[in-house]
Amino acid sequence: MEAISIGLLGLGTVGSGVVQIIKNHQDKLIHQVGCPVVIKKILVQDVNKKRPVYVDPDSLTSNPEEILFDKDIDVVIEVMGGVQETKDYLLTALRQGKHVVTANKDLMALHGSELLTVASEYGCDLYYEASVAGGIPILRGLVDGLASDRITQMMGIVNGTTNYILTKMSNEGRSYDEVLKEAQALGFAEADPTSDVEGLDAARKMTILATLGFSMHIDLDDVKVSGISNVTEEDLRYGKQLGYTMKLIGFAHREEEKVEVSVAPTFLSNNHPLASVQNEYNAVYVYGEAVGETMFYGPGAGSLPTATSIVSDLVGVIKNLRLGVNGKSAVTPQYPKKLKENEE
Ligand code: NAP
Ligand code: HSE
Repeated sequence: MEAISIGLLGLGTVGSGVVQIIKNHQDKLIHQVGCPVVIKKILVQDVNKKRPVYVDPDSLTSNPEEILFDKDIDVVIEVMGGVQETKDYLLTALRQGKHVVTANKDLMALHGSELLTVASEYGCDLYYEASVAGGIPILRGLVDGLASDRITQMMGIVNGTTNYILTKMSNEGRSYDEVLKEAQALGFAEADPTSDVEGLDAARKMTILATLGFSMHIDLDDVKVSGISNVTEEDLRYGKQLGYTMKLIGFAHREEEKVEVSVAPTFLSNNHPLASVQNEYNAVYVYGEAVGETMFYGPGAGSLPTATSIVSDLVGVIKNLRLGVNGKSAVTPQYPKKLKENEE
């Protein structure tokens, strides 16, 4: 069968992982989708930067049009980050009939509704599993696995950088600044780590989770947010003496049409399962009326874990292509209309 051609936007921490998985797991991918998967072009800012050996230098470009208007490219994978320029690229890709996979929670939390509407108008898939909790398949868990239940509450750790910082400060007595630098070097932090440490990244993820889990439009502006930049080693030490561990906790609760979403540093008893989630790992409790309590756990950031979610989304897109159901598949999470009183 003919190969599927991919255009990759971005070749940083996550983009490099995507290239590796597509190359190293090619036999598994062929088994899953029945054809080879080829990365045709990769958009970067600087084509002269040194790249890993597994990247074909001829595939690099700094001109987005070489991907967005290439008729042979079936799927665009977006791992460059940013909001306005990226949104324009993805709208163009969708209007060109290309399916999109993205890891971009900033974009999906702010403009997911618009992008998903355009995707559906053009018969395209738009998948974004990697935008929340890196390698954990939590969006599919909510949309597919718990499709029959009414979700009432979600609570957990959804930012790897801050969990890494709090773990190292607490367990090793290291300074906030030193550990933040380490999290950046390991590729966990955002390009501007302010969004990690001030809780904004977690707020964006909780917005996506609450929107999907509660089947309700949630405004990012309505999320109450505080981060960990003012947490001191002393705070953690005192907590520890009293049997508590600090975590940056995202919380979303629904009662009828009333929803509360927040992100805040929280002391948990050492007996609480979330207290033992270490380093860049994430864990989210999801409560459903029928199922009761479920827990999703795994690596929340990093190159290969995040790329696993992205390439799994890609497999979903290609399977839909084979079935001719792109843009209408029941597994595509659709943002419902706003339920606000002043909404038409
Ligand atoms: P990164 O390491 O900073 O890589 C960004 C890549 O995009 C680089 O290759 C850069 O090109 C390219 N790029 C950035 N702006 C561009 C522009 N305007 N035009 C062309 N190319 C551009 O970022 P990352 O950590 O891989 O994260 C990428 C996305 O995944 C973000 O949305 C992030 O929130 C999300 N994400 C990250 C993780 C993680 O663990 N890192 C996990 C889940 C989701 P150069 O290489 O030439 O600089
Ligand atoms: N900066 C994010 C984090 C990357 O640390 O969780 C994964 O979304």
